[in-house]
Amino acid sequence: MRRRGTWFQNKDFWRTVHPILFRQRRWEMATEDVNNIISLLKFKRGAKILDLCCGVGRHSLEFARRGYLVTGVDLTAMYLREARRKAKHEGLAIDFFQQDMRRFRRTNTFDAVINLNTSFGYFKTQRDDVRVAEHMYAALKKGGFFVIDLMGKEVLARIFRPRDWYELEGTIVMEERTPSNDWSTLENRWIILKGNRRKEFTFKIRFYSAAELCALLKQAGFRKSAVYGDLAGAPYDSKATRLIVVARK
Ligand SMILES: C[S@@+](CC[C@H](N)C(=O)[O-])C[C@H]1O[C@@H](n2cnc3c(N)ncnc32)[C@H](O)[C@@H]1O
Repeated sequence: MRRRGTWFQNKDFWRTVHPILFRQRRWEMATEDVNNIISLLKFKRGAKILDLCCGVGRHSLEFARRGYLVTGVDLTAMYLREARRKAKHEGLAIDFFQQDMRRFRRTNTFDAVINLNTSFGYFKTQRDDVRVAEHMYAALKKGGFFVIDLMGKEVLARIFRPRDWYELEGTIVMEERTPSNDWSTLENRWIILKGNRRKEFTFKIRFYSAAELCALLKQAGFRKSAVYGDLAGAPYDSKATRLIVVARK
């Protein structure tokens, strides 16, 4: 694959993985996620929420339907076009911005920032992850929450499979995973086959343990973090399926 810029700036990557990331079941899951976030944060209607890395707006739209004031930020223009189209179709007023999450800055604006579905840890240096967290700290009102949902390092190590393949509506996806830098990062190689077309992408994501992510958030200014094993608030134990950190300003 010829690549210009970094993997997450590659439009062809996001275009190709769209049917995988945003299939119908994922939209249904977003409704459950929003129910869970509202009860986890005891979040009141009318509150202001930032969906950081909002993609096609699965969660932004659902929050807006329920009377929250939503801003969505994402780097991928085609995802934002879809999100805006859907919002318009439903008559929902959502502010969508096309921006790199490192550059989006506000001050004392939001009651909550959500960053869902492993949309953190994309940058070459960890300093950039810290920068994003610092900006989110500034963007929150005092008492506001930053919710991060990742595949935690402990979960990944427990269920680790170096290779997987699966078929989704006629597309075959083959994934190869290699831990690197002493399990700080995961190198991914995805081969995607549809008809007689074959695409191959490689990308690297930084992985966090619960303690590492809490330490990063503390460094960014957050005074307290709570850790869960899913968005319903299960404990982060040996049965956890995700790493959810809710940090409070
Ligand atoms: C795994 S998807 C998750 C999307 C959404 N949160 C969801 O759960 O449906 C990751 C998203 O991050 C966006 N993204 C990648 N790099 C980004 C960056 N540097 N700044 C902002 N958004 C970025 C991608 O365009 C994509 O929509």
